[in-house]
Parts: sequence; structure tokens; C-alpha cells
Amino acid sequence: MEITIIRPDDWHVHLRDGELLERVARFSAYQFSRVLVMPNLNPPITNTALCLDYRDRILRGVPGELDFNPKMSLYLTDQTSLQDVFDAASCEHVLGFKLYPAGATTHSEQGVTRIAPMMRLMEEMAKHDTVLQVHGEVTDQHIDVFDREAMFIDQILLPLHEEIPDLRIVLEHITTRQGVEFVRDTNSNIAGTITPHHLLYNRNVMFSGGISPHHYCLPVLKREEHRMALLDAATSGNPSFFLGTDSAPHTRQNKETSCGCAGIFSAISAMEIYAEIFEQANCIDRLEGFASRFGADFYQLPYNTGTLTLEKRNWKIPLYLDGPDNESGDQITPLKAGEQVSWAVKAGDG
Ligand code: DOR
Ligand code: ZN
Repeated sequence: MEITIIRPDDWHVHLRDGELLERVARFSAYQFSRVLVMPNLNPPITNTALCLDYRDRILRGVPGELDFNPKMSLYLTDQTSLQDVFDAASCEHVLGFKLYPAGATTHSEQGVTRIAPMMRLMEEMAKHDTVLQVHGEVTDQHIDVFDREAMFIDQILLPLHEEIPDLRIVLEHITTRQGVEFVRDTNSNIAGTITPHHLLYNRNVMFSGGISPHHYCLPVLKREEHRMALLDAATSGNPSFFLGTDSAPHTRQNKETSCGCAGIFSAISAMEIYAEIFEQANCIDRLEGFASRFGADFYQLPYNTGTLTLEKRNWKIPLYLDGPDNESGDQITPLKAGEQVSWAVKAGDG
């Protein structure tokens, strides 16, 4: 059995920079035509000029023959200016601004500390049809880590959407039933991306047989009822939910340590894993909408002209992506490392 779909897009990915970029970016380019690249480098990508340089570095890190078109999100800070919004709105490569609440996740220290002073900027974004991509978690350390997304929706997102209903918002990597309901029950200016790992796992996997740093990401995995809500949403055919892997590579050294980084690297087998998930849910026919059409519709971009063919064939995801020196610990552990997956990319065209 095989399926051929319009070449898909990944609307949320971390490609990093330097040597790590050169190791990981090609995997996204093998599978996806457009990717929305997150700006949480250190220092962050806060304006269009920095972002165009970064985009050039990304393109240099990817084999030239691949059809790969990185789109960019700029890092919103307390210092972002109206001029930054105008510049972004007039650049075809920039699709929006990423709101990281300060302290919410990896390299978010320079993120937004208070929403109220940002309203003027967000009105301007709405006027220019610039999208706000949101990491939706409150950062108050007193709030239970499993409740932070639901609380962010109540305290920040609902009031923001009410105040500026024209602002188009993507709630990135939704992880809860409340995230699903927020996206489903608001107008078409609100969308949500869903990762493969939040579809595959509930929070038990982080603690099964011992602590498992390679299953740690943010927002953290939740209870089974939330995973089920995400699975329903992703496979429902509702165009407000679309693909964003949140593939976020870290070296084993930085994951397997006393205070490991958040992030799961899925770019080497993302489409195969999504295909397996959709097939198991008896709706492989809905994969194309989720992976190749709904995101493009939301971002008001044409569908890709190429295709991707996936075939039913078992193969084993490698244990590690090797570093320059295999023994150095500079390896990257992918999602489902060492496990079998039943779909494989057969051919890409375009
Ligand atoms: O798990 C995550 N990793 N969540 C994020 O929000 C950031 C990302 C990263 O950059 O590693
Ligand atoms: Zn991310």
C-alpha cells in the first residue's frame, strides 16, 4: 500500500544554528517543502534583518536540489517596535511573531514579561495580517506544570482574542483538551498545531521504568484524556488543526544530565510517524489536509506543487544521529529511537 499527498509543510520547527543546523536541517528538507522556523536562538532572532541572515544560513545547510522554503517567525520581546512589525509585514519570508512568555521554555529569557504593554503592537499585527505564534503556558512557578497551558488560555488568550478578534493566532503545540476546545470553539482566526509526540504519548512515558529525558518537552506531555482529545482534533478534518512537529534537537549530553533540556527531535521520521498515527485512527485519507493543506490555507499560501509518496514498509528509526565524533556524546536521540515504524518515505517530487 502507498499514498501520495501534496508535499507537506511543517509549521513549527527548531533548526538551530551552526554545526547543529548543518546536521539537522536536511532532514526537514527531505520531507517538507515549507517549514516555519522558530527564532529561539541565543541571542534570539528579533528582527527581519537578523532573520534574513539566519534564513541564508539555513539554505546553505540544506542540499540545494531540495525544494525547501523556510518561512520565519520573529521573536517578540518587550523591546519589539512598531517598525519591527512594519518590516516583518513587508517581508515575504516572515510569517509572524513568536510570543514566548519570559521563562516558559528553552531560550525564552528574553521573551515577553507582560502582555498589557504589547497590545498596541498586536493591533498593528492584526492590521497587517501578521500572525502571532504562541507558546501558550503561564510561567508562574507556583502553578502546577501540567496546568500551565489551560491557565494561559483562560488568563491570556481568551482576553486577547476578545480584545483583538482580527488578530490571527496559532496556539503552537497544543497539549490539552482545553487547547483543543479553544481552537475549535473560536473563530477561524485561531488555529493550533499538533506534534507527533503529543499524539503518541501521555505523561506516563516520561516515567516508565525510570526517568526518560528523551520524552521531556514543553509544554510537557499530559494525561491520556488530553492525548485522546488531540488525536480526535488532528484526525477530525477540522482545518483549524494542522501539522507542526516542534522537532527540537538537543545533544544527548544536554538531555541526559541532572537538569536536561526540553525538546524532542522528530524531523528524521515525522511524516512516517504521523502516517502511522492516522492509519491507526482509520483515517489516512485525512493526512493530506492536516499535513499539506490546512496550514497553507491558514497562512494564506498556495499549496505546494510537488508530492510526497509514503509506502507501507517497516524500518527502524536509528538510535542516534551521530555527531562528528561518535564517541563524544555529541549524538542526538530521535523520537522513537530504535523502534520500528511501519511507513516509509518512498519518493518526493518537487
Ligand atoms: O520542548 C521544547 N523545546 N519546547 C519548546 O518550547 C522549545 C523547544 C526547544 O527549543 O528546545
Ligand atoms: Zn517549539
